[in-house]
Amino acid sequence: MCIKINEILAERHLPLLLRTSDGGPLKKEGFEAYRAELLSLLAQEVYGTAPAAPAEVRVSEQKCRPKEFAGKATVRELTLSFDTERGEFSFPVTEVRPNGVPKKCPMFVVLNFRPDIPDKYLPMEEILDAGCGVLRIYYNDVALDGDDGFAGGIAAMYDRERYTWGKLRMWAFAASRALDYLLKTDYVDRKRIAVAGHSRLGKTALLAAAFDTRFSLACVNNSGCSGAALSRGKEGERVRDITKRFPYWFCENYKKYADHEADMPFDQHFLIAAVAPRRVAVGAALEDIWADTDAQYLACCAASPAFELLGKKGFIHPDRLPQPGDFFSAGQITFHLREGTHFFSRADWHCYLSLI
Ligand code: GCU
Repeated sequence: MCIKINEILAERHLPLLLRTSDGGPLKKEGFEAYRAELLSLLAQEVYGTAPAAPAEVRVSEQKCRPKEFAGKATVRELTLSFDTERGEFSFPVTEVRPNGVPKKCPMFVVLNFRPDIPDKYLPMEEILDAGCGVLRIYYNDVALDGDDGFAGGIAAMYDRERYTWGKLRMWAFAASRALDYLLKTDYVDRKRIAVAGHSRLGKTALLAAAFDTRFSLACVNNSGCSGAALSRGKEGERVRDITKRFPYWFCENYKKYADHEADMPFDQHFLIAAVAPRRVAVGAALEDIWADTDAQYLACCAASPAFELLGKKGFIHPDRLPQPGDFFSAGQITFHLREGTHFFSRADWHCYLSLI
């Protein structure tokens, strides 16, 4: 028997999207205010509140190698700095941009687990051959991925009483500062700046694009729990697991939903909806049971009405669960499912490169 997607979604009892405060249907004109409400709810309950963007981001160049990758690219080691409540904060980034591209190039702000370029998650030559550049952030340079009591990195630069942000939000904040810098250059296509990441950094990429409308695309790879996957009815990792093992990724409030997902006044389709009408690309892997492929697909289905309200194609998909080899890319939400394990693979990159 073929179960319809709407029937599966109905069984998850998701909080309804696109409702006004009195429960009525939202109109297109009300979306911006509604989006702000979604973000404030998600900040309050899951990711924490963050400081406002600094007035300016300063850049200094440490090194420039103009003929890397067989002469195809210029690689620059940069330091980005900005003022915080407690003085200047700086973090290093690497910029790789294609040489000899006559027009402005699209860029990926890539949050990564290692500072290396290329990297097993970052097939640099393929990205360059597609005419795109990369601004790489090594996430531990911004905030340590560990329980340091929020005593180091960017966490130490702001009052913990004032801002409840967890590490995911801190890394997302850094992605926005990288974007501040890119928008000041004259070689970047301002309308085509994506943010990309895998796993915990896939959650971060989605968060960054939800909060920062200047990103045109979020590449959300194998993000799973608290990323692009619905929490209600989720297999593999649950809110209880993630808040126990990685409490510092979130604000304190999120813990109360461990084993109480049904009480959440939101689910992860709200986060995807907050990117509307811009593009969200969700990538899943068949053997990534911990992230739950179907839960990620269903979140895309459930977020689609937000994009449709704004006159865009939302998530265009057949009325069935995903199969390996699927790549649904006709709408503003795209989804692909590849064979294999939890990994940021070239197959994933090829999908994202076709979307930027
Ligand atoms: C753990 C965690 C996931 C996360 C992953 C990763 O498995 O439970 O939520 O996505 O690490 O970042 O690699």
